[in-house]
Amino acid sequence: MQLVFDYLKRNQARFVAELCDYLRLPSVSAQPQHKQDLCACADWLAAHCRQIGLDARVCPTRGHPIVVAKTPRTQSKRKPRFMVYGHYDVQPPEPMDLWQTPPFEPRIAGRSIFARGSTDNKGQHFAHLKAVEAYLKTNTPLPCDLTFVIEGEEEVGSANLARFLKSHRNELKCDAVVVSDTGMPDADHPALTYALRGIIAFEITLHGPARDLHSGIFGGAVDNPAMALSQLLAKLRDANGRVAIPGFYDDVAPLSSYERKQFKRLPITNRELQQLIGVKNLFGERGFSPMEQRSARPTFEINGLTSGYQGAGSKTIVPAWARAKITCRLVPDQRPLRIRQVVCDYLKKICPPTVRLEIEAGHGAEAYLVSPTSPRAQAALRALQEAFHREPVLLREGGSIPIVNDFKKILGADSLLLGLGLPDDNAHSPNEKFDLDCFEKGQCMSALLWQELSSPAVHRA
Ligand code: BES
Ligand code: MN
Repeated sequence: MQLVFDYLKRNQARFVAELCDYLRLPSVSAQPQHKQDLCACADWLAAHCRQIGLDARVCPTRGHPIVVAKTPRTQSKRKPRFMVYGHYDVQPPEPMDLWQTPPFEPRIAGRSIFARGSTDNKGQHFAHLKAVEAYLKTNTPLPCDLTFVIEGEEEVGSANLARFLKSHRNELKCDAVVVSDTGMPDADHPALTYALRGIIAFEITLHGPARDLHSGIFGGAVDNPAMALSQLLAKLRDANGRVAIPGFYDDVAPLSSYERKQFKRLPITNRELQQLIGVKNLFGERGFSPMEQRSARPTFEINGLTSGYQGAGSKTIVPAWARAKITCRLVPDQRPLRIRQVVCDYLKKICPPTVRLEIEAGHGAEAYLVSPTSPRAQAALRALQEAFHREPVLLREGGSIPIVNDFKKILGADSLLLGLGLPDDNAHSPNEKFDLDCFEKGQCMSALLWQELSSPAVHRA
């Protein structure tokens, strides 16, 4: 193993340069104008995988392609087999003017590398690729077979990956999936995440007049869709921060007192959180701590709100329509379809007759919860401890990785969520960054992880 660690140490500068190449590709999955860039990014990644000694191919889907890359399979007896999952697609970089340097021109400052997709998720799965490169290039035998599955649609709901898992079930069968696409509380606390929230997305449109109207000539005698939408949305949350939709909380599993105690032990204060976010005061559902609110309680969130004139100066109109982009975060045991139903039913019930309501429901996924005490989870904790030289913590996190539910349902495999992101990495925000120490320690963690997970005590347990 010393050869592996020496190789990693010696090659950091090149790894960072390669990560910069990867980050230059603008793989924004949500925006149709980037379709070719996603293909180019998948091609780059597959070529890179081949260069480090993996068997790699690009698999087309109805959407963006999936990259599958495997360690060379030896004929010897069946080894444990693990999948490493990641995503090469990134969130839209907008608003552009808030970036200190352009999102797809990586910039290194101190121990940070700034670019869209750096922490979410290119830098994180690249750490795993570099660990495997170290094994392969030093001829150090891997104790397991690895298959990398790096998709291009995570940020838009992974619509095509489940089908791919089904049609390649035998090829992708594995003992567990390893995912580095979550976070850690700070650089001194590596983390194993044992729960994620689920999600359900909507677009709500209120249609008013057949076209934008002169607000002086007609305003006052016709409902304003922007106002109607504001009033509608305002009814959906009460003063205590609870979602005011009947049935919304029906299936929410209560937090155990053990979990509530664990939340209190996390090394982040409310004040630090408030400063990190940049608000005067935190706000959330009464009766729960901010850490609980942001990871273990469901939400109804407006992600975008559009209506009327958005250009310079003023324009006196009654807009023809108003639209809100919404996502709800879900927790165990809420079901996405049931939440979709209660939301739609309630909106229909309270929508005034002066506008026409249109609801388009988007992607959905259940929350994820896995035991943090299983032998594999314990093995992962040992790898984290050894790589970071710090005691790891157990986290519930508020983000969603919809596909982990399908890994369980389709492949029967649990996911080990070993995030390398920091709270100030600005994922989904301007000036996204990835910490180069997390990158390097993440490589060591990955190298150690394959030993820990493949040890007979863990593998046979
Ligand atoms: N890496 C995140 C998910 C994440 C972030 C989990 C932080 C835990 C902590 C992932 O790339 C992501 O952003 N997922 C989307 C999924 C959605 C588009 C279906 C999300 O959570 O918004
Ligand atoms: Mn993301």
